[in-house]
Amino acid sequence: MKLLVVGNGGREHALVWKLSQSKLVKEIYVAKGNAGAWEIAKKVDIEPTNVKDLAEFVSKEGIDFTIVGPEAPLVEGIVDEFEMRGLKIFGPNKTASQLEGSKAFAKSFMQKYNIPTAVYDVFEDPAKAKRFIKDFGTPLVIKADGLAGGKGAMVCYDEKTAMEAIDKLMVRGELGISGKRVVIEQFLEGQEVSYIVLLDGERYLPLPSSQDHKRLLDGDAGPNTGGMGAYSPTPFVNEEIERVIQKQVIERLIRGLKEEGIYYRGFLYAGLMLTEDGPKVLEFNVRLGDPEAQPILMRIKGDFAKNLLDFYEGKYTEIEIDNRCALCVVLASRGYPEKPQVGDVVYGLDNIKDDDIVVFHAGTDIQNGKVVVRGGRVLNVCAWGYNLREAREKVYGAIERIRFEGMQYRKDIGLKAIDLV
Ligand code: AMP
Ligand code: GLY
Repeated sequence: MKLLVVGNGGREHALVWKLSQSKLVKEIYVAKGNAGAWEIAKKVDIEPTNVKDLAEFVSKEGIDFTIVGPEAPLVEGIVDEFEMRGLKIFGPNKTASQLEGSKAFAKSFMQKYNIPTAVYDVFEDPAKAKRFIKDFGTPLVIKADGLAGGKGAMVCYDEKTAMEAIDKLMVRGELGISGKRVVIEQFLEGQEVSYIVLLDGERYLPLPSSQDHKRLLDGDAGPNTGGMGAYSPTPFVNEEIERVIQKQVIERLIRGLKEEGIYYRGFLYAGLMLTEDGPKVLEFNVRLGDPEAQPILMRIKGDFAKNLLDFYEGKYTEIEIDNRCALCVVLASRGYPEKPQVGDVVYGLDNIKDDDIVVFHAGTDIQNGKVVVRGGRVLNVCAWGYNLREAREKVYGAIERIRFEGMQYRKDIGLKAIDLV
């Protein structure tokens, strides 16, 4: 079988790594990928959002199955384009992708189908938004309605910051059309966890739980990012909480999609806050998380290409899970997330040869035969361990052997979980 993975990040390198281990996979392609993914997969020089050219390429090359990593091509309608041409692709269609593509759509869906979430309102007029902030008080969270690459949500602890966020999004339009409409919602407290399933109509298959670390700095300080590190499983999602998430979130979502006549097939990611009143949904994503996918895929033992294909074809499939933990720390470039600096050479990757450590690339490229920094999140250093402590020690030991100009990373990935047990 010939596979194509669409996307450029750490999640896509991890997908290519995992899927290429399948006996069913004879050839694997990646559009466009990164320096790490190109060591395993053939590079396709087409942008992930150029869905027509991707469909042409897949038809011409006789690729059997395409797996989509990021949200942008899904929201753009890559699945609709492929299906119109009879090509097999794993991901939700354009309508279903609105669950991530529009926060206002997702919130009204949750409200309608009684999926627990923060109280909220939607605004298109900055003056009205500001009046609401004055009445509601802080803390609160202001979110751009559309896609913003992880930069669209602002947690505001005081009124001044909240007013500035409204000016930034709605008046100055710094996130373009994405921020012209905003959701303002109640601030929730608790542990934030990620719960991802494979979904096809009414069937779903859970993947192991995980916890991301969204803020740039240790102790959950600094601005929100795409995610600075993750591990799986998370002790915060015990069996009882997992049942509640399935019943109150996943199964209600499925019922809602059915009633709305929306067909969903693909990964479905629920970003949750585990509050004193139970789990509440912060966001739905229509894809695997990044960096959550890295430790999750490391814990899948069997043939994941077969799992996906069987699931796609409506057959029963069992996803075999490794009992070990996996932990991933993101190495980001100087200036990330505001203004990532690019072009610096990455040193030390050849020093890492341990069987228990995997380095997934994200924003890397090859220039003059050398691996260089191409984007904000550069590398994902990951390891398996019999417990999180062990996995952490291996990861941080490996990081000492890697360097590039301005490298920044969090030192506390997984610590909250270790402190708990
Ligand atoms: P979102 O894109 O909606 O997931 O928001 C990005 C990040 O902002 C989340 O991962 C949380 O860390 C934080 N966040 C979002 N909504 C809330 C909320 N209602 N209360 C507290 N933190 C939030
Ligand atoms: N790591 C969070 C996300 O993928 O949205």
